[in-house]
Amino acid sequence: MGQAPVVYGQSSRPPRGDYSRAQEDYTCAQNFAAYTAADHDTYHRLYQRQSAQLQGLASEAFIQALPLLGAKERIPRFDDVNERLYRATRWELVAVPGLIPEVPFFSLLANRKFPVTDWIRTPQEFDYIVEPDVFHDLFGHVPLLFNPVFADYVQRYGEGGLKAAGLGACEMLSRLYWYTIEFGLIREQGGLRAYGAGILSSRGELPYAVHSPEPQRLPLELERTMRTRYKIDTYQQTYFVIDSFEQLFELTAQDFAPIYERLRGEPEFAADAREPHPA
Ligand code: PHE
Ligand code: FE
Repeated sequence: MGQAPVVYGQSSRPPRGDYSRAQEDYTCAQNFAAYTAADHDTYHRLYQRQSAQLQGLASEAFIQALPLLGAKERIPRFDDVNERLYRATRWELVAVPGLIPEVPFFSLLANRKFPVTDWIRTPQEFDYIVEPDVFHDLFGHVPLLFNPVFADYVQRYGEGGLKAAGLGACEMLSRLYWYTIEFGLIREQGGLRAYGAGILSSRGELPYAVHSPEPQRLPLELERTMRTRYKIDTYQQTYFVIDSFEQLFELTAQDFAPIYERLRGEPEFAADAREPHPA
């Protein structure tokens, strides 16, 4: 599943990570010594299973960049990935104990630092995990940070988040995160491909999102997206489709303040609402 940065603190279950390790900005050192052979094996098996089904389902930019994560047999050292990532787009990975509150999350992104959870799921959670772990965060999110346009989009999102926090509009903005960075689809070479990390790190949702006749797929539109609630514990019933990362960047370049203002009085769409356009 994907990660909603805003679920922190809303869940009845406390997050799993040990937050006493974290500094004020919620980052910590990657606890590499804590990984067991079984942990590395879990990563290896998840990587193998997921990389085997990317062709024709994942965005070409994702497939191209995936090997830049390094050896698939073990959990990468974030510093090792950083040598390549910083050179490519001036982004860097920072370790965190798990989900973090929205303002520190936005601040990290605005500074081109991507928070990556350092612990990995147990073998019992191989197919489904409720919180993002190192496999979701690394495998799902990091390859596209090597793409210059997408990398700039994520930084802009962080800046937009800080602004939204001041305007009380985080919920609306978080839906854009959800339906792009986590669950976005892109049209490529005449077909649909996934670029959202929640899809790309999921065994079942990757083929479902691209091929199933069940969900609705709408062109990405700011207002429709910001008004659409989302479910964090089922496959999505609605996906929003972009034509290119340039289009995504340009569509989101405008000032959102007037949009937030206008949308405040408007009704929301359920995650599975079938109306394609705002009323
Ligand atoms: N343009 C948005 C604003 O003015 C910021 C933003 C950029 C948000 C890119 C998301 C993605 O708030
Ligand atoms: Fe995520």
